[in-house]
Amino acid sequence: MCGIFGIVTKKEQNLGSILVEAAKRLTYRGYDSVGVATLSGSTIDLRKDAGRVEDVAAKYKLTEMNGTRGITQLRWATFGEPSQVNSQPHLDSDGDMVGAHNGNVVNNVELRKQFMAEGLLVRSQNDGESCVHAVERYINQGQDFIQAIRNAYNDLQGDYAFVIGKINDDKLFAIKKGSGLVVGIGEDFTCLSSDLPSILPLTRKIIRLEDGEIVTLKADGVELHSVIDGSIIIREAETITEEMNAVQKGGFAHFMLKEIHEQPDVARELLHVLQKSEAVKVILDKIKNARQVYLIGCGTSYHACQAGSVYFAQLANRSAVPVVATQFIEQFLPTLNNQDVGIFVSQSGETKDVLNAINASKESGMTCFGLSNVIGSTLTRAVAEWLPLCCGYEISVPATKTFTNQIIAFLYLAYQLGGKDMNSLDDLPGLMETTIRTTMLQVEALTPDINKWDDLYCLGYGATYSIALEGALKLKEITYAHCEGMLSTEFKHGPLSAVIKGLPILFVAGPNNVPLIVSGLNEVTCRGGRAIAIGEEDEQLKTNASDVITLPKSNPWFSSLLSVIPLQLLSYQMAVARGFDPDFPRNLSKTLTVD
Ligand code: G6P
Repeated sequence: MCGIFGIVTKKEQNLGSILVEAAKRLTYRGYDSVGVATLSGSTIDLRKDAGRVEDVAAKYKLTEMNGTRGITQLRWATFGEPSQVNSQPHLDSDGDMVGAHNGNVVNNVELRKQFMAEGLLVRSQNDGESCVHAVERYINQGQDFIQAIRNAYNDLQGDYAFVIGKINDDKLFAIKKGSGLVVGIGEDFTCLSSDLPSILPLTRKIIRLEDGEIVTLKADGVELHSVIDGSIIIREAETITEEMNAVQKGGFAHFMLKEIHEQPDVARELLHVLQKSEAVKVILDKIKNARQVYLIGCGTSYHACQAGSVYFAQLANRSAVPVVATQFIEQFLPTLNNQDVGIFVSQSGETKDVLNAINASKESGMTCFGLSNVIGSTLTRAVAEWLPLCCGYEISVPATKTFTNQIIAFLYLAYQLGGKDMNSLDDLPGLMETTIRTTMLQVEALTPDINKWDDLYCLGYGATYSIALEGALKLKEITYAHCEGMLSTEFKHGPLSAVIKGLPILFVAGPNNVPLIVSGLNEVTCRGGRAIAIGEEDEQLKTNASDVITLPKSNPWFSSLLSVIPLQLLSYQMAVARGFDPDFPRNLSKTLTVD
């Protein structure tokens, strides 16, 4: 997803290196274009293009750019194709202002027409440019920046944060409306960014902006104004003390592989944190007495909700409805009231679809809780209580360790609610280690054959249904093959017609569902297909499947969690064998802050 970073310094200096490094720290959000602008006296130096930060930086010598103020932006295309002209930052009509945004200006098309009718020079289709012109039209009337931004705010519909600066000035201005914006205060400089991690290497003194706040950055400090009435807002800076984990691959070829291997450790960490969590008690109390419980998320996080729903029902006799966030609003909003509870799940805590669902649900009176990996994310500030996923940074776009910890968080809640033996959860990290170690080679042996196909199926049942969905999503995300995840019992109601000689069909077999899975395996093998089972050591599976990827022995709930690991490894190995970068799949973004 787009990310912005801006900096104001006391003296003219090389800002390019700082800006390129800041841009690199934002890349985990996903992007397709990058740009840097520096301001110095009466000149603006703007260099930008579609492509990776490293490539654009080398081509346009971004690290050599000087100035007293600078802006960088990573763009993930929404309005306008990825191209040089649509890349950000953008200039105003006469080129004496420059700005960039993160987010989504939903009335962009209408605004561009207005700007053109007013004689402004619109160069791109991009909505970031609309933010610049929206300010420009009021600056042209002689208004100061604060006033012009306040008026622009009324014109720009949607959720965004943007930063803007003008020649012959010593400040940058930014506003937050719906998208993240954090300000950093250093020695002789101030900066801002879409997220905290990209600021921390420069300074640990920060101010978190709230929606509807305008910040003025000067080299020696910042000023906050309310967009509503222009009044000054006083807010003390806070000092961040938590350690920055080394955002490096640590000897692994890709972040994804590193993050797969980190799963046992982060699982341990999460279990420790949950044991001490006061929020767990609050959440469980509410769930116990709720009229209805909903588990809400998107993508991988929705799959965790699907798993959580099975755990709540089977382990705690508590029904909880898993719903994709956008459908939740469309389907359930009219039925909600203050006796209902929703647990909103989001790795990033910034997914717009999820935030929209939270906002709508809060109005209905429903109690909103959250699971998120990012401390201080919008989700964590919007809900009554939330549980951290404790995964550290997950850099790779395909979620791995955050998915398994989402599932563990749900297991933990279901175990508590159902009065189960909490100590048995301590076995999970060790089982995950064993699974990584023992399935790696089994998966490697099958990868070349599976990789010959571009249409795959991944089937599960009961607790493994969610894993089949997640396995299929991982395969789609990074191998670019089509893979359908579905309930194994539904396969015979249509998709069975796709089976031809050798077609691999993956079956995720929970230990309590083997007889049922065996029917499915035979439906495939008797038609010449290759039925690959993922499950515990079992004679029936061995006899009936074409191949078996064996998991360590545990119980149905742990086994479902473990079975995602070989699917993560399979997707990873297939993607690498196909020559794709699993960490940064084409077209995808880690943090989707648009509708
Ligand atoms: C994007 C990512 C997916 C992710 C989904 C939800 O689509 O590409 O990998 O699962 O957003 O993200 P969240 O941060 O809300 O868990």
